[in-house]
Amino acid sequence: MNSDSLNLNQIPKHVACIMDGNGRWATKRNLPRIDGHAAGEKALLDCVYGALDIGVSWLTVYAFSTENWKRPLDEVRFLMNFNEGILTRHRDELNERDVRIRFSGRRDWRVPKRLQKHIDNSVELTKTNRKLTLTIAFNYGGRAEIVDAIKTIIDSNVSSNKINDKLIAKHLYFPDMPDPDLMIRTSGEYRISNFLLWELAYTELVFLDVLWPDFRREHLYEAISIFQRRNRRFGKINNK
Ligand code: IPE
Ligand code: IPE
Ligand code: MG
Repeated sequence: MNSDSLNLNQIPKHVACIMDGNGRWATKRNLPRIDGHAAGEKALLDCVYGALDIGVSWLTVYAFSTENWKRPLDEVRFLMNFNEGILTRHRDELNERDVRIRFSGRRDWRVPKRLQKHIDNSVELTKTNRKLTLTIAFNYGGRAEIVDAIKTIIDSNVSSNKINDKLIAKHLYFPDMPDPDLMIRTSGEYRISNFLLWELAYTELVFLDVLWPDFRREHLYEAISIFQRRNRRFGKINNK
């Protein structure tokens, strides 16, 4: 679907996306799983530019989970190099399009130094951009994020009666990031898989049957059109 039938006054401010189904896409074609990841690059770029075109200002994509280390070493290694390649191939264009690139997740010794360097460069290059914040959740786990927040809170010697939702939110990886309005998961799986556990509390969830490498901006617009027909109540009786 194209963007013409969307209500442009009701575009979600923050869209989060679980880019799933790369392996199945490849297997269906008798290709190795990594070819599915490679084919996902086009989908990601189309999603980013599609989001930019309709004025989404925050887009968060799940690229590698804290559990994905359990995959075969070859696939993990491919994903590390692939994410580095995405940055080197696209950061200049993203920068020109006023996209601020951020990475959310744990920095640990398993993330290759060279990738870490490219992450740091891309973040630095684009840090003053404002049209769209593209957050790449990499070595990200929702539980790890909450654990890390609790650790810093305890280290700051706050007394327990000062701990509330706001304080916890202030210690997440990006306290300035608004909670997602819409979360899309592709590939027909109906689960969260440790993505943004805290932030998704009142997010509208849309599950699409398309495999990630086949995802294009039309699917983003379809998910947004479903979102626009939802009635968000936030625990109240009516919020429309
Ligand atoms: C999502 O696709 C990409 C990552 C998790 C890195 P998958 O690799 O999970 O693809 P399926 O779910 O096995 O098809
Ligand atoms: C979630 O997908 C992680 C990413 C898309 C990066 P998975 O494919 O790892 O999730 P499960 O294993 O199906 O729950
Ligand atoms: Mg998967």
